[in-house]
Amino acid sequence: MNNRIIDFRMPQSLVMGVGASRQLPDILRKRGVKKVLIVTDQGIVKAGLAPAIREAIEAAGVGVAVFDGVEPDPRIEIVAACASAFRAAGAEAVVGLGGGSSIDIAKVAAVVAALGGRADDYIGIGKVPGPGFLHFALPTTAGTGSEVTPIAVLSDAGEHLKKGIVSEYLYPCAAIVDPELMVSVPPAVTAYTGMDTLTHAIEAYTNRFAAPFIDAFALEAIRETGRHLRRAVTCGIDLEARAGMARAATLGGLCLGSVNTAAVHAMAYPLGGTFNVPHGLANTVLLPAVMEFNMPANLGKFAAIAEALGEETRGLSRRDAALLAIEAVKELSVDVGIPQGMRYLGIPRDAIPAMAEGAIQVTRLMGNNPRTITVKDVQKIYEDAY
Ligand SMILES: [Fe+2]
Repeated sequence: MNNRIIDFRMPQSLVMGVGASRQLPDILRKRGVKKVLIVTDQGIVKAGLAPAIREAIEAAGVGVAVFDGVEPDPRIEIVAACASAFRAAGAEAVVGLGGGSSIDIAKVAAVVAALGGRADDYIGIGKVPGPGFLHFALPTTAGTGSEVTPIAVLSDAGEHLKKGIVSEYLYPCAAIVDPELMVSVPPAVTAYTGMDTLTHAIEAYTNRFAAPFIDAFALEAIRETGRHLRRAVTCGIDLEARAGMARAATLGGLCLGSVNTAAVHAMAYPLGGTFNVPHGLANTVLLPAVMEFNMPANLGKFAAIAEALGEETRGLSRRDAALLAIEAVKELSVDVGIPQGMRYLGIPRDAIPAMAEGAIQVTRLMGNNPRTITVKDVQKIYEDAY
């Protein structure tokens, strides 16, 4: 039995619901912030989201500067550029506006701007010695859950690797989750990020260090994803579906601080680091094969996943119900338009051994896997997912 004591944390404030982002100016004023740096990417600027939020903040008498240099799967170097922009602007707080990349850069830049050093100094668990500047997170995708986690993931282009910074000081002081900010996300990104959420929930729920308290968030995230992801992808303006996925992503994110993910995320790192496959897409092509490998470790939990995804499991053996969970995940992934295999992502088959060597070294996550996993197993799973 896993008797681990969990230390559950989250941002001090979680403001959630349609229109929630309109409360940001007031929240900043109440905190006494006089100038903020909005950290975002050019897509969010072009979509009009960053300018609209900038205007609203300025109308409340708070100064704004914008750093729009965030890229997908951002390189570590972007943190330094962002921290310099923060200092040059004389800002006192950071507003991370965008997908997980913008929020992750904002988190680390708030630390680097306050404490000095470079992002590399803080890689690992618990390496940040104290709090950074105030950070407010406004996600525009429903996926990473970064707005409620103590984690930032950055790309090391030289080493072709993703590196994680995990620290209690990375929690934003407020997460403002507004489905209205998500309606213009294109179908493919909605699909990738939504499947990332599902992966967070499944990997936390079936985790070697799963905790019943966190299971409640995980199962509800699986249910919400099963109910809403197809609709959010096929009809992006459906606010009810967007709101459902926003809840799913937040619930999935709440699983990460105290339980976290496992083999799928570890194995997705080389796909992102070496072949630039978007994070959620990398997870999705690997998820069924990892579930198949892990299923014997906990048939009951995999059966419960099938149920949470809306499958009828009455009358089935636990094993058959567990297999149904894998089928349900595959069907969802097909329905939201995700390519069914690594072969369609431009990854040469002969890259698998090196990828397996890379993935097995992500011990921070591999150690969470419910079934003990070796480099040979990892290779076999990559083959299965090819
Ligand atoms: Fe993820």
